[in-house]
This record gives sequence, C-alpha cells and structure tokens, in this order.
Amino acid sequence: MQDKLTAIATSARAAISEATNQEELKQFQIHYLGKKGEMTSVLRGMGKLSPQERPIIGGLANKIRDELSALFTAREVELRDQERLLMMAAEKIDVTLPGRQPSLGHLHPITLVLDEIADIFLGMGFTIVEGPEIETDYYNFEALNLPKDHPAREMQDSFYFHPEMLLRTHTSPMQVRTMEKVAPEVPVRIIAPGKVYRRDDDATHSPMFHQVEGLVIDRNISLSDLKGTLLLFAQQMFGPHQKVRLRPSYFPFTEPSAEVDISCMMCAGKGCRVCKDTGWIEILGSGMVHPHVLEMSGYDPEEYTGYAFGMGVERIAMLKYGVDDLRLFFQNDVRMLRQFR
Ligand code: DAH
Repeated sequence: MQDKLTAIATSARAAISEATNQEELKQFQIHYLGKKGEMTSVLRGMGKLSPQERPIIGGLANKIRDELSALFTAREVELRDQERLLMMAAEKIDVTLPGRQPSLGHLHPITLVLDEIADIFLGMGFTIVEGPEIETDYYNFEALNLPKDHPAREMQDSFYFHPEMLLRTHTSPMQVRTMEKVAPEVPVRIIAPGKVYRRDDDATHSPMFHQVEGLVIDRNISLSDLKGTLLLFAQQMFGPHQKVRLRPSYFPFTEPSAEVDISCMMCAGKGCRVCKDTGWIEILGSGMVHPHVLEMSGYDPEEYTGYAFGMGVERIAMLKYGVDDLRLFFQNDVRMLRQFR
C-alpha cells in the first residue's frame, strides 16, 4: 500500500508539471485527489490493515495529499499568469482608431422655450412661482369667478378625481394661490409656468400642455402696463420689430379682457397662410383682474388693481420654430427633438 501511494505521488508530480493549462490541471487534480480519484481508491483498502500499520499509512497518505494540494495550487497560479500573458500578447490595440463619441442628451424644445420665456420676465423683475397640477375646483374655477353652473367651464373640461378635485385646466389658479398668501397689502409680480390638462386632442391641442401665467397687482396698475410688458416680451421673444395689439374678449376672471396678437413673424405683418392674411397672430389671453377675484383673494379692489395673462408655451414654440403639429413635441422621436438644442 505504501508503494502504491508513493507511485501515485510520483505520477501526480509529473502530471502537475506537465499540465499546459488550467483546465488540464483541474482534470489531473480530480483524477488524483478527487472523491473517486486514485488516492481514495487505494485508501479504501485501509480496513484490511493491522492496527499497527494503519497510522503509518494514514500519516503517509496525509503527507502526500498535503504536498500534492500545495503543488496543484502553485501550478494553478503559474498557469493563470502564463495564460494571461499569452492573451495580452495576442490582443492588438489599434491606437489610431477613432474614439467613440458619447452621445449627450439635451433639453426638450418645450423646456427651452419655457426657460426663454421665464428669462425674459425675470429680466423685468418678475419672480417665478409654481403650484400643484392636481387642483381643487375652488382654485381652478370658483375663485376665478367661474361658479359651478358657469357656461365658460364647458371650454375647459378636465380629468376629475372626484367632483372637487381635478387636473388643473390652466395656470390661473396660481393667481389666487399667490394673492391669498400675500394679501391684503403686498404688491405681486409673478409668473407661474407649468403643465395643464384638458380633454382635447388634435393637431393644435394636446391633453397635457404648458402655460405661463402672469400676474401683477399693485396700486395704479393699468391696461397700458399690460400692453407695454407684453410688447417688450414679444420683441425679446420674436424680434425688435414686433408689434402687439389687444382685441376685446371675454374671460370670467378679468374685466376688461383682451386677446393679445403679435405681428406675424412669418410675413412681418404683410399677410400670409400662417396668419390667414390678417398679419396678426394670437398668442395669449389677458385682462385686468376682475374686482370680484381681487376681493375673494383678499385685496380691496378700490385700492388695488392688477393685470393678468396666460400664454400657451407649445403655441409660442410652434410659432418660434415653425412647427405645424403640436403632437410632434410629445411623440419623442429623437429625429425631431434633436433639431432643437
Ligand atoms: N386661463 C386662460 C385659459 O387657459 C388664459 C388666460 C386668460 C389667463 C386671461 C389669464 C387671463 O390670466 O387674464 O384659457
């Protein structure tokens, strides 16, 4: 038995040093030291040995197993290093190949226009306020002079959570939320940008779109302040030759109310397809804040007056970039979006 064990050791030592790769080495290890390997099958005969012989054979077997295990481990490290060197030598790196450009993202065109609008008003001393998209009936309608049975509610059907909670249909509720906070004495000069929602869906309407609300409240604010501010806005947004005109209109929360047109940027006011030969393009709704709205929000309409306006950001973006279908902004086709960075 002793001879058999030394023979195994000799042959295993040779195999270890002859192994040419890790896989082969692994096979040898199983062959000699594995559960069904040579060592185990020899030691199965231990039972037949005399009590004196047993510890001698056992001791020898352990010594051989330890020695071989150490040899296997050492050879494995050696082979691993060798294989790695071979792989590195085989790999050719062509340093003259052009690098891979990481593709950078950029802002969405609507965000770009929104930022530009905000910058213009910030430059005129406005501050930005933001508010909830899930709004109560009170702020979205009631406090804006649109009681429950008001016919003007029809034009702004929304998505309701329950009769008193809805996705806001415009940013005008921010007029009320702002005034309530600072009334009755502090003047207001804010814009409120954000998402609004309506039950509408066609080439010029999307169920979700963006508005920027404007509100100025102080003593002695008049319609000419509104017109001057919007003229400055139009000229900074669309060019220094812009003109604006106010057309009488109706909104429940303003009195008087006006639709604001700017001269058509496609034909410089001469008349074309875009402005339907009028030379003018409508960009927003506005007016002097209704005394009743001032009162409901805590201002004394005898002392304070104010103007408000609300513009659609997508509309401004369409005019600025010459995009004729609003839905293109939300289909997320990068070929479209990449044109605006
Ligand atoms: N909230 C109106 C809408 O979404 C737009 C609007 C009109 C806002 C007149 C105003 C305003 O602040 O004075 O149709």
